[in-house]
Amino acid sequence: MKNIVVLVSGGGTNLQALIDAQNSNLIKNGRITCVISGNPNAYALERAKNNNIDTEVIRRNDFESFGEYDLALTNLIKSKNADLVVLAGFMTILGHKVISAYENRIINIHPALIPSFCGEGFYGLHVHEAALKKGVKLSGATVHFVNEECDGGPIIMQKAVEVKNGDTPEILQKRIMEQAEWIILPKAVSLFCEDKIQVIDNIAIIK
Ligand code: GAR
Repeated sequence: MKNIVVLVSGGGTNLQALIDAQNSNLIKNGRITCVISGNPNAYALERAKNNNIDTEVIRRNDFESFGEYDLALTNLIKSKNADLVVLAGFMTILGHKVISAYENRIINIHPALIPSFCGEGFYGLHVHEAALKKGVKLSGATVHFVNEECDGGPIIMQKAVEVKNGDTPEILQKRIMEQAEWIILPKAVSLFCEDKIQVIDNIAIIK
């Protein structure tokens, strides 16, 4: 059984999708053992507590340098014996120490079809604002491994979602969450825990 540590910053609807999948036995060979928040007021922490999942808070601003923060976060994740780290709406960029300690063992959900609308500055509603500004007719979500390039790691799973006339960033965000994020994130986590994802030459293959 693999230990899954989930990193959050906000509402935690993706965390909830993982908890629901776990409660329905849809996450094979893994269980969420800890939720770490970058924000002490994140509603995601309540979701974890309601499900008797251990919680921790670590704030970037409590550290003088990014390097100290990176080390502390790495040590915190290690102390939880994580086999898999899931970024479920985690809004702080990860540093070299944590990324290298967990190579191809950190999964992120991004609310667009990478390589569109991704990279630095593309997070949360900003992603949907950019998609609407461009006028794309399809957007969606991507689950990928995290490497040193922001949103550039091996792509595990993607799902497209229609953009409709009159969409606001909020409406599009909700549709992408419901039709893509909450479906593909638990699936990818389960595949990882079942050892069904292989990375060869920076390409993720589902066995
Ligand atoms: C989700 O849409 C997630 O894809 C996005 O933030 C939202 C968090 O919602 N993540 C990013 O933009 C990361 N670059 P949640 O807290 O309700 O899961």
